[in-house]
Amino acid sequence: MARAFAPGKCILFGEHAVVYGYPAVAVAIDAGVEVSISESSEWTIEGTEFEPSRHPHITHIIRDVFGYNGTPLDIDIKSGLFSAAGLGSSAAISNAMGAALQFHLKPDEVLDRIGLARMGHSAEAIAQKGRASPTDTATSALGGCVVVSGDLVDGTEHVFDATLETPEGERSWSISKTTIPEDLDAWIVLGFTGVGSPTGRMVAGVANLLESDPSKESDMEAIGNITNAGLAALSAGNLEAVGIAMSACHERLKSLQVSSPELEHLIAAVGPHSLGAKMTGAGGGGCMVALTRDPRRVAEAIEIAGGKPLISRLGAEGARIIRKT
Ligand code: MEV
Repeated sequence: MARAFAPGKCILFGEHAVVYGYPAVAVAIDAGVEVSISESSEWTIEGTEFEPSRHPHITHIIRDVFGYNGTPLDIDIKSGLFSAAGLGSSAAISNAMGAALQFHLKPDEVLDRIGLARMGHSAEAIAQKGRASPTDTATSALGGCVVVSGDLVDGTEHVFDATLETPEGERSWSISKTTIPEDLDAWIVLGFTGVGSPTGRMVAGVANLLESDPSKESDMEAIGNITNAGLAALSAGNLEAVGIAMSACHERLKSLQVSSPELEHLIAAVGPHSLGAKMTGAGGGGCMVALTRDPRRVAEAIEIAGGKPLISRLGAEGARIIRKT
């Protein structure tokens, strides 16, 4: 059996704008997805027949990326992430599947995290009708704190570049990593609204809004500036400034019409106990994130307000093979 784990992600700054080449900052979170594969007499997933059309990400990795047509596989997925909730569960599934399959086929090879990030991005691009940044897959594959931008952001460590043909023309991104001070006395608390929201629909909604109201481009530019300021604050360990930047980013996302009443409700509930809070990921439901020195109190506030909390460090380890001990 081959097993691999890939973490989910939380975007601190820059979602949606990053699709258009503006910068985004994301961290890998403690929760994620574990995929196990073993050879079998027929193709199965979670104990039932594997229907490729119901699992486009996994099918893309098996067929298009690895060109696998060997012995049928039994695929088992254990997810600790809320799905369609902005935590990158589809990216984590792609990465864990890719890592498990690589280990199954070439057990002696070192895990190619950049290769994983690229294959996950191509799967996301298919699912999001050609409009997908590499943020989710790169953060899950590489781990830590990842910066994705049209141009390399000063002070970050370049890892790889990605390009994609989108409905608005070819886009390219520089993917880099940045170091967060180790002694940071803060956690992120994610709050799931309970409302799932497909990323592709939200991304398409923003594209339509920009077309019908070009003045919304100013929100994109503002998100870019906020992201740069938030990144500088994070690298310097200035938590108060990080929190202010997160809340400012949320106001601009609201203007892009990607928040929801449920997100606003949870964000208001954590206000007294956090340094800053915002929606995270595609929005329209899904999760909000708060930065705090008091994660238990924030988790309680989320629960009392009807949400589901998840506490994480900022920047967990990236995708990995789970070897037998
Ligand atoms: C989704 O987690 C993040 C978005 O910016 C889409 C993307 O980057 O592909 C909304």
